[in-house]
Amino acid sequence: MRPRIVVVGSSNTDLVVAVPQIPAPGQTVLGGTLQTIPGGKGANQAVAAARLGGDVRFIARLGDDAYGAAARANFAAEGLDTHFVLTTPGVASGVALIAVESTTGENSIVVAPGANAKLRAADIAAASPAFDKAAVIVISLEIPDDAVFAAVEAGHARGIPVLLNPAPARHLPGDILRKLAVLTPNQSELAQLGGSEALLAQGVAALVTTLGAQGARLEQLNAPTEHFPAPVVTALDTVAAGDCFTGALAVELARGQSLPAAIRFACAAAALKVTRIGAQPGLPYRDEVLDVL
Ligand code: RIB
Repeated sequence: MRPRIVVVGSSNTDLVVAVPQIPAPGQTVLGGTLQTIPGGKGANQAVAAARLGGDVRFIARLGDDAYGAAARANFAAEGLDTHFVLTTPGVASGVALIAVESTTGENSIVVAPGANAKLRAADIAAASPAFDKAAVIVISLEIPDDAVFAAVEAGHARGIPVLLNPAPARHLPGDILRKLAVLTPNQSELAQLGGSEALLAQGVAALVTTLGAQGARLEQLNAPTEHFPAPVVTALDTVAAGDCFTGALAVELARGQSLPAAIRFACAAAALKVTRIGAQPGLPYRDEVLDVL
């Protein structure tokens, strides 16, 4: 049985160039060949969850352009349920301009949200049937607040665990934080959100911070902090590693695994991702992660 997972978030087309180093402000660097790759945090999480064994319904907005059409075709090829992937007339699809540093795999990303900014609370309400029998809901922050809050409320009202990946980070009200089952920031997002203590004090049930090559950390109120090492790999491209982690965590929790077991699986999945080029093309399949474990 593939557990049902609802992903609410963005879809982008990634325009990627490998560079010798990430340019500093005012600096021009010459890079490699332009690559056009399916991306967007929401879509990456949805594809990761599908490849890792989830029955995934994606709620998103695309523009009515060639990028949007290509994204929709890609979602179908990945087996996502796209019934609630809407097309916004007269608006461009989301695009991300990405520089990937050849030596380290580190990246820098600028997003033009396009149709992602048109996903609103009314779309989440209209997608209400998508939440039927969902085991887990996954939400990220490249969409407007009212859509994020509506999706959190939709999960909370139905008793479905909500995983929120606070990327890119922005303030989240306490009323939303305390309705989350898991928050998955990276270290810089954690700092922007005020740090572990503040988040746990505001009612986040489980804080799972991704630490790059160092793996992940689990913090819960009144419980010892746990560290989970990542498999040692050579990183070629860190784009979508966090999305892969969040999608993997969702699948394992939806399969009834404990949080520590789900984090171990997610660390292995994300480690595999960074060994491969491109956001969605680089996402691993379930058997590959099981082999690593
Ligand atoms: O998390 C990686 C993603 O961030 C990229 O695929 C890009 O589209 C941006 O949304």
